Amino acid sequence: MPTFISTTQEEKAMIKMLHLMFVLLTLAAFVGKMFVSVTRPDLLTHKAVKIAPHVISSLLLLSGIILVFQGAWLSGNYGWLIAKIVVLFGFIGLGILAMRSEGTNRWLAFGGAIVCFIYISIVAVSKNPFLFL
Ligand code: HEM
Repeated sequence: MPTFISTTQEEKAMIKMLHLMFVLLTLAAFVGKMFVSVTRPDLLTHKAVKIAPHVISSLLLLSGIILVFQGAWLSGNYGWLIAKIVVLFGFIGLGILAMRSEGTNRWLAFGGAIVCFIYISIVAVSKNPFLFL
């Protein structure tokens, strides 16, 4: 398959590893921020707590975009990628809702965001937007 960015297998593997690291950091930042908002809400105003999640998710997005071009995914099978990005918006929206709401709504939004995250991860590995169908 032709690639848009000419890179070695080692470089591709390295970007994928970085992408996976940012995936885990994004999850940790989201769960951590929820935990802090329940146990120590005063910490949410700290600069590092405010900025770090944005830096991590920007690096996740950047590494994802590089992988798209390295793998020439736009010229082949990209249905899974569209599904991934659409559900990514769901993850972001529900994540914002979870941070801003209270009571049951907060935890429903949190659960929904986690379900989106799991879906995105499964689709990324299977390359099948319909999961196991
Ligand atoms: C919450 C967000 C995300 C999660 C949980 C996630 C998860 C993953 C996982 C688990 C893989 C590894 C798949 C494998 O080993 O076969 C992967 C690969 C990949 N991701 Fe993401 N990702 C996210 C965001 C993004 C974004 C925003 C983009 C694009 C703009 C993207 C594009 C890609 C591409 C192109 C691959 C490599 C496919 C390949 O060549 O095998 N990802 N992602």
